[in-house]
Amino acid sequence: MIGSATQNGVRVSITGLGCHVPDRVLTNDELSTMVDTSDEWIIERTGIRERRIAAPEEALSDVCLPAAEQALETAGARAEDVDLLIVATITPDMAFPSTGAILADRLGAKDAAAYDLSAGCTGFMYAIAQAHGMVAAGLAKKALVVGGDVLSKIMNWNDRSTCVLFGDGAGAVVLERVHDGGFLGFELGADGAGGKDLSLPAGGSRQPTTAETIANGANFVHMNGREVFKFATRVLVSSAEAVLAECDATVDDVDVYVPHQANVRIIDHATKKLGVDPKRVVINVDRYGNTSSGSIPLALADAEQDGRLREGELVLMTGMGAGLTWGSGLLEWTATNGAR
Ligand code: ACO
Repeated sequence: MIGSATQNGVRVSITGLGCHVPDRVLTNDELSTMVDTSDEWIIERTGIRERRIAAPEEALSDVCLPAAEQALETAGARAEDVDLLIVATITPDMAFPSTGAILADRLGAKDAAAYDLSAGCTGFMYAIAQAHGMVAAGLAKKALVVGGDVLSKIMNWNDRSTCVLFGDGAGAVVLERVHDGGFLGFELGADGAGGKDLSLPAGGSRQPTTAETIANGANFVHMNGREVFKFATRVLVSSAEAVLAECDATVDDVDVYVPHQANVRIIDHATKKLGVDPKRVVINVDRYGNTSSGSIPLALADAEQDGRLREGELVLMTGMGAGLTWGSGLLEWTATNGAR
């Protein structure tokens, strides 16, 4: 799916932004006491130095709530005014009710349509495109989009090829109509045939949880790292190029590039192939690891805190992950309290 986001002259933008990560820091050195790995190997192959891990009693909605509250506060919005709430995640509190509905209740967003969206690490891009469509069409006025995951809960902590890569965290944005700026276009896609390379095989209707699925580790993330690496390096480039072309923009117009934070090598590859000036790339995978649906909004929040997001600047975001899925959005940044 590809399209311009400015048809009929309607503009929709991010008017509030927040993020939250659990307190507990898990370093590479500590991980190397748990599995056969080393700080040196992890840094060289991934660029990750540490990640955050949710406490045993902390569920996804606990991590999302402070991020959502901060996003509402920076938008100058009240929870009662939110009429759409989407949580992008692959680690909901439970299969149902949705974490979206749980979060709406905890926030006091009693008039919101609320649900979850599952597209792996691309979830946040899918969710903002969907919320954009609803706000632009007039179905919603104030959308709260949260991207978050607590992947530590579905990791096999004996599998060094996966457990060193991921971390927990969430980011949230408010989407509203604005006069100028805002989203210019989206490109989203999925290749279900590649889904087998990154999956959580058990716990659904295909393989309900049994003593056997637990014993053979089917309730944990399974990944073919090399295939996912090839896929990721390819789509980060093709999706970004597609959305730029759709919006009549070039890579030189991009002021801030926010790729999915999976691995510094994947980001470096895309940066070089696209020809983006490395100074324009936001990287925080070293501190958080791959937080899946939380990755892009966490990176956006970091960039804003560092003063890197200025009104009128062009922000290119691209996510890719389970599905296999990918998605890009091009946004002319507006002040986070700039809703009209
Ligand atoms: N520590 C030490 N050695 C390790 C570790 C580890 N943590 N993990 C694997 N190794 C070993 C392997 O066993 C292998 O040993 P061998 O040669 O004796 O067989 C060796 O290191 C090299 O393994 P490779 O898989 O070839 O290593 P590679 O350089 O490809 O890096 C990695 C592996 C980091 C997983 C890489 O393939 C990658 O980043 N893939 C993409 C993963 C990803 O981003 N997934 C998330 C996608 S988004 C989403 O939706 C969740």
